Order: sequence, then structure tokens, then C-alpha cells
Amino acid sequence: MSKLETNKVSRRDALKLIGVGGAGLLIGATGIEAASEKVSNFFSPSRADASEILPFYGKHQQGILTPAQDFMYLASFNLETSLKADVKNLFKKWTEAAALLSEGKSLGDSDFPSSPPIDTGEAIGLQAMKLTFTFGVGPTFFDKLSIQSIKPSQLKDLPHFSGDNLSDEWNGGDIVIQVCANDQQVSFHGLRNLIRIGRGTVSLKWMQHGFQRSSSADPSGSTPRNLMGFKDGTGNPDTKDEKEMNKHIWVQNGDGPAWLSGGSYLVARRIRIRVEEWDRSSLLDQEQTFGRHRATGAPIGEMDEFAKVDIKKTDDNGKLLIPADSHVALARGKGKIKILRRSYSYTDGLDIRTGKLDAGLLFVSFQRDIEKQFIPMQDKLAKMDLLNEYIEHNGSAVFACFPGVKNGSYIGEGLL
Ligand code: HEM
Repeated sequence: MSKLETNKVSRRDALKLIGVGGAGLLIGATGIEAASEKVSNFFSPSRADASEILPFYGKHQQGILTPAQDFMYLASFNLETSLKADVKNLFKKWTEAAALLSEGKSLGDSDFPSSPPIDTGEAIGLQAMKLTFTFGVGPTFFDKLSIQSIKPSQLKDLPHFSGDNLSDEWNGGDIVIQVCANDQQVSFHGLRNLIRIGRGTVSLKWMQHGFQRSSSADPSGSTPRNLMGFKDGTGNPDTKDEKEMNKHIWVQNGDGPAWLSGGSYLVARRIRIRVEEWDRSSLLDQEQTFGRHRATGAPIGEMDEFAKVDIKKTDDNGKLLIPADSHVALARGKGKIKILRRSYSYTDGLDIRTGKLDAGLLFVSFQRDIEKQFIPMQDKLAKMDLLNEYIEHNGSAVFACFPGVKNGSYIGEGLL
């Protein structure tokens, strides 16, 4: 369709094409351009504070190196189509919507009062709150679309790890969207509108919310604490170090299929914490479990949170200060394998089967290579970590997150 022809799409059609209210996937590959032109009149002005806006377009996707916002939703979807064209259309619509929402804009209103509004409305008047969207695809995406030849060989379900008690309810998925923001309503609104746009092409498989202390509760921005009371994130690699990010986080040219260069692999593990048992353990036990002091986050025997972790250091009696089977000693190893953890706490109320809290860590990590980074690390932890007494992995998923999107392009363009 020529540019001229796209301009002929009526306002009414454009409103339908943006993808909600049942019109869903009627559009052709260029239809979305028309939709964006036509509906732009209806967007509410960008919400005020520009410092609250993180750019959607760029070399890499947002939400990976972005300092973790206060809230997140991680949503996994099943594809309800086997047609590449349907997915392409959806990805275009998602791209357009995500770009607008990240700027704090509304998806607009229908000018027909008898039609449902395009935007669900609960973010009207709210700031962008550093809203980010991160998109990726899981192993089964390629099977469903019969495009296995371009599936990265390492994009497959993780092996069984000792102690895993996975439940299908929290496993896998064809597509992932991570939505983060410094406001829960803003992040939910972002996800909800993408779910709505996807209706008919994808269905939600599972969705987990996550939180951490809010930035207003800790204006100093110190390392957040997990539900076990410990600072979590101290040992992450430096996201400002481009060399380090290229080495450990971003998939490089030649690593696998070209469409993923500049992207990253996401591993999600829903890890239940037996908080009641943990709360009965002594402070000494707790610190030995992690290998760090609770109050400061410093490695055992040190004062400063960011002091070097020396897993060989001993006390006067020759006893290791950081136990060899502590979480930090095992996760760190020789310090050569690094992943970027971007985890959030979750609470899902009461587990009525046990009368205990269903609470834990929605572990999310980004890495350049799952087989060389996450798997050996988790294998060691699963076998020996003192922390295992208090945790249980009950969900697992892996996704390949696309490289960044250029303005005018759409997520996964290189793949589709
Ligand atoms: C409920 C589960 C988990 C909890 C509560 C937890 C908590 C922590 C805490 C408190 C630290 C020390 C502070 C820090 O450096 O961030 C830490 C470090 C770390 N954790 Fe975990 N973690 C969990 C699961 C995992 C898993 C599944 C992995 C990866 C397979 C992992 C990998 C790491 C790494 C790489 C470090 C940094 C080690 C270093 O180099 O100092 N953690 N974790």
C-alpha cells in the first residue's frame, strides 16, 4: 500500500486498527502506520515531567540495564496463531503502544461514545514514572510459527536442577513482556493495554507482579533488600561499563542468529521463600547462609557493602569467613561468570494448602549466554547452597529478548 493509500484509511478504521475493541488483527503490514497517523490527534499531551520518561527506542531494549524501577509485571503469553503475519502485526501494534505509553501518553479515546475507549484510562493524569517495556520470545515461539531454523540453539527449557519443584502454571511461554515503572498502577496499565491489544493473537499464560522498596521510601537509592532482609543486587556487574556489558549481557555478532545481536537472554525463576522458617533462624545462621552481614550487606568480616568479596579469607583459626557453601561464595565462584540480576520480591497472599505466605523472589537475570552463565551457576547453587533450606523454585522460563528498536521499526523486526 502506498503512503497515499495508507492516508486513505478512515479515522474510524484507524481507531479499530490500533488494535482493541474487537477489530484486532484486521490490518496489513502497513496498516499500523496509518493507524498511528490517524489516531495521533487523540493522544493526550505528554504527562509533565520529562525526567520520568525513559526512551523506548535505542540500541538495546529498555528495562535491562535500566536501574530497577519500584514495580514490575512479568507476563508470559501463548501464541494463538501459527501465522507469522499475525505476529508481525501484533509486534507493530505493541511497539507503537509501548513507545507512546513509555512517554506517558495515552493510547487515545474513541470519538464514538458508543465504542469502548482505546486506552483503558487508569493512567490518565499520571506521569510516565520511568515506565519501560522489554519484549522477548521463548523456545516454543519458533515451534508454533515453524521457524525453528532461526531459533538460537541454547533457547530451550532449562535442565532440571536439584530441588526444583516446578509447576506448569509458572513455566515457559511463547512471548514475554517485562513492564517496570515507579508506580504500580502505571505499570499495570501498560501491561493491561498490551494484553488487550494482543487479544485474539496471544493469551496470557502467567503473570507475576514484583516490587521492591520504593524510591520515595529510600531517596538515597541504596541497594534494595529482599524479603529475607538482605541487600540484594550488590554484586551485580557495573551496567555503566560498556565492555563488561558486551562481555556478559549483550548477545554479540556471531554468538547465534543475527536477529538477536544486541539482545540478551532473560531467565525467570519464581522462587518461593519459606519466610516463616527463615524468620525462626538466628542472625548468625542467616549471615552464614548468604556470606554477608545483614545490616550493612558487607561480606562477612568486612565493614563496607562494596568491599571485595574474598572467599578464601580466613579468621585467626583458619576458618573461612565466608562459608564455602554460602550463597555468595557459590554464586561468585572464581568471579568469572557474571549475570545481571534484576529480580523483584513478590507476595501472592496466603497459600491455603499450608496456611503459609506465598512470598518470594521473582528472580530475573539477563545474560549473553544461558549455557555458559546461568546454568553452571544455578547447577552449583541447586546442589550446595545453604539457602536451599529456605527456598523452592516453582517456576522457570527462558526468553531471547530482542535488540533495541529503531524509531520507525518494530520489536523483533529482524526475526520476522
Ligand atoms: C530466593 C532466591 C535468592 C535470593 C534470596 C538471593 C539473594 C542474594 C543475596 C542477598 C546476595 C548478596 C548480595 C548481592 O550481591 O546481590 C546474592 C548474590 C548473588 N546471587 Fe542470589 N539470590 C537468590 C537466587 C539466586 C539465583 C537463582 C542465582 C543465579 C543462578 C543467584 C545469583 C547470585 C549472584 C551471581 C550473586 C552475586 C555473587 C557475587 O559475585 O558476589 N541468586 N543473592
